[in-house]
Amino acid sequence: MARPDGETATPPRRGPDDAEIAELLRAGASAPSSHNSQPWRLRWHDDAVEVHGDPGRRLEAADPDGRELRIACGAAIANVRLTVRAQGRRAHAQLLPDRDDPWFYGRVRPGAPWPPAGWEVELARAVRRRHTDRHPFSDRPLPAALRNQLVRAAWRESCRLVIVDDRPLRRGLLALTAEAHHQQQSDPAFRAEWARWIGSGERAGDGLSPELARLAPRPDDAWRPRDFGGAAPQHERELDAEGPGEHEPTIAVVTSFDDGALAQVRAGLAMQQVLLTATARGLGASFVAPPLEVAAIRVRVRALLGGVLWPQVVLRLGWGRPVHPTPRRPVDG
Ligand SMILES: Cc1cc2nc3c(=O)[nH]c(=O)nc-3n(C[C@H](O)[C@H](O)[C@H](O)COP(=O)(O)O)c2cc1C
Repeated sequence: MARPDGETATPPRRGPDDAEIAELLRAGASAPSSHNSQPWRLRWHDDAVEVHGDPGRRLEAADPDGRELRIACGAAIANVRLTVRAQGRRAHAQLLPDRDDPWFYGRVRPGAPWPPAGWEVELARAVRRRHTDRHPFSDRPLPAALRNQLVRAAWRESCRLVIVDDRPLRRGLLALTAEAHHQQQSDPAFRAEWARWIGSGERAGDGLSPELARLAPRPDDAWRPRDFGGAAPQHERELDAEGPGEHEPTIAVVTSFDDGALAQVRAGLAMQQVLLTATARGLGASFVAPPLEVAAIRVRVRALLGGVLWPQVVLRLGWGRPVHPTPRRPVDG
C-alpha cells in the first residue's frame, strides 16, 4: 500500500496474543533441570520472553558453579525459540551477557510472520512430550541415520555430540561415573540436598514427589547409579525383568569448544535439541550427571575424551517406554 510520502507501508505485524505468550512460557518451563529444580525465571517483557537464572534454586552441593543451572536455562531458551517458530514467526534470540544483570541468560523476541521448517514443527511438538526415561532400555541399536540426526542437532549450536562407542572409553567413563557417584554419596551436603528435592513430601510443583520417586526404577551399577528411593511398582519391575535388559545403552556426551557461561547456555540449547530429536524419533533419554558434577572428575572426563572439548552433559539413549511427566511450578509470567 502506497503512503502519501511514497514509502510502501508494511502490513501491521500482529505479535503473539495472550494464549500464545502463555504457550511460550509453558514451553520454556518444560525444560529438564537437575533434581527438577527449575532454576529459571521466565517472563514476558518488552515483547520478548526473557530467561533469567534463579540463584535461589541453584543446587549448592550438586552444582556449586551453576553450570547445570545455565544448561537448564539454555534448554528453556531452545524450547521457547522452537515454539515461536512453530507459531509461525521469526525468532530473534539473544544470549548473555547483559551488563546490568549477571543472571540474564537470554531472550527470544517473536518477529515477522515466517513459516517454520518441518523439523522445527517436529521438535516444537516434542517439547511437551519429552520426559526423562530412567528405565532400562532395550539393546536394539540406534540406526546410523538417527545417530547422525542427533549429532547434527548439537551442531546447530556449534556443540559436538560425542557418541561413546569405543570400549576402553566407555569403560573409562563408567569407572569415573562410579567414582563420582561414590564421592557424592559420601558427602552429607549432597545427600541432604538430594533429600530436600527428591522424594520429599514438602514440595509441590518442583523436585520429585514421593509418589513419582517411587515410580523410578531401581538403580543399577552402571549408567543409572542414583537411588530415587525407588521401589518401582510391581508391574513395572516385572516389565523390566521381562525386557531384554540393558547392557549397552548409547552413551553420548554434549561437548562445547569453550567453557564460559555463554558456552554452557549454548550447550543447554544443544542438549535440548538432541533430546527433542530423540523424543521425536521415539527414543528415550536420561542423564548421567555424577561424573560432570564432581569438578575434579569432570577434568578427567575431558582428558578421556581427548582433552580438547569440554564435557557438558552425559546422556544415556535407547529405546524405552512412555514415562510419567514431572510437575512444573507456575510460570512467573
Ligand atoms: C543438567 C541435568 C542433569 C541431570 N542429571 C540427572 C541424573 O544424574 N540422574 C537422573 O536421573 N536425572 C537427571 N536429570 C533429569 C532431571 O531429574 C529431570 O530433568 C527433572 O526431574 C525433570 O523431569 P523431566 O526431564 O522428565 O521433565 C538431569 C537433568 C539435567 C538438565
